[in-house]
Amino acid sequence: MSTSNQLFIEEKINETADSVTLVLKPHDLIKNYKSGQFITLLLNVGGEKVRRSYSFSSSPAVDAKPSITIKKIQDGKASSYLFSTLKAGDTIEFQQPAGLFTLDKAVSENLVFIGAGSGITPLISMIKTALAKKSYKKVCLIYSNRNEDAVIFKSKLEELKAAYSNFEVFYTYSQPHNSALPKGRLNQSQFIKIVEGIKDLPVAQADYFLCGPDGMLEEVKHGLEILQVVPSKVHKESFLTTNENDSVFVSVPEHSGDANEITVMYQGSEYKFAVKPGKTILQSALDEDIDLPYSCMSGLCTACMGKCLSGKVEMGDQDGLSEKEVKNGYILTCVGRPAVAGTVIEID
Ligand code: FES
Repeated sequence: MSTSNQLFIEEKINETADSVTLVLKPHDLIKNYKSGQFITLLLNVGGEKVRRSYSFSSSPAVDAKPSITIKKIQDGKASSYLFSTLKAGDTIEFQQPAGLFTLDKAVSENLVFIGAGSGITPLISMIKTALAKKSYKKVCLIYSNRNEDAVIFKSKLEELKAAYSNFEVFYTYSQPHNSALPKGRLNQSQFIKIVEGIKDLPVAQADYFLCGPDGMLEEVKHGLEILQVVPSKVHKESFLTTNENDSVFVSVPEHSGDANEITVMYQGSEYKFAVKPGKTILQSALDEDIDLPYSCMSGLCTACMGKCLSGKVEMGDQDGLSEKEVKNGYILTCVGRPAVAGTVIEID
């Protein structure tokens, strides 16, 4: 059984030497995505099924055509396939958009986006939406790259800067070509210096959206603590870029008892199956050939998110969910298992 659909690559646009944008169609097949969300692609790479999630770089508020942007990772199976092999006119299987790293998390009138490399992808989508809404006093981007040539969407960012006086961009480079520019990865002190220098920014009140590798996220998070920004105003998305061939470790909650039966409601169908000790809800569903949505399988991306309607789900690593979401009953099937028999969950 399959719950995924087919998309066409309408256009392939080279952004930098190692990043490409894929414009997808038919446009109405991708339903109601939000800026900051991602789509999961199910690829056939040399006969092997590979599943990867990519953020939208398009904004549903201003771009008629949905698009994703991909950075080629050395030895990365999926990114190499999408970058080098796939061409306009080819089809790909996908699952509907998901993800909680979205603009509607912001509660203030001032937004600061911090990204590194291809971490710009969900951020540019949110920036375009935020500027088009015209309801924010300040929209700022701090964007870190290896050098000037690696900046993705440089011309778009400059175009937005010229069009919106409330938009500011700060570039940082670890190895700039121009020796007059400061050199080094974005760290805590550099971040604090940039933020404190932004005119008319109420630093402690603004919302901060972070997307990049874990090292950068940690530096910025410590910087935000020093700036006394409360955690509820810090929204983050990390990505795993080290090696797409690596298998992912999934932490399953300890459970020594018998299998617990669970009911999963998904796309108008109801599935009942047993989750054996040591297995997650997702693993058990896939064993039964029930095609539930997923991507990272490590509790990070939220592609497998559902809501517990009755009973109880216990979870291992659940970094993708906030405390509030957990309190409101949201669960991740890839790291969760039913704690009691008769648990019922619903997946959108
Ligand atoms: S598949 Fe990514 S969080 Fe479950």
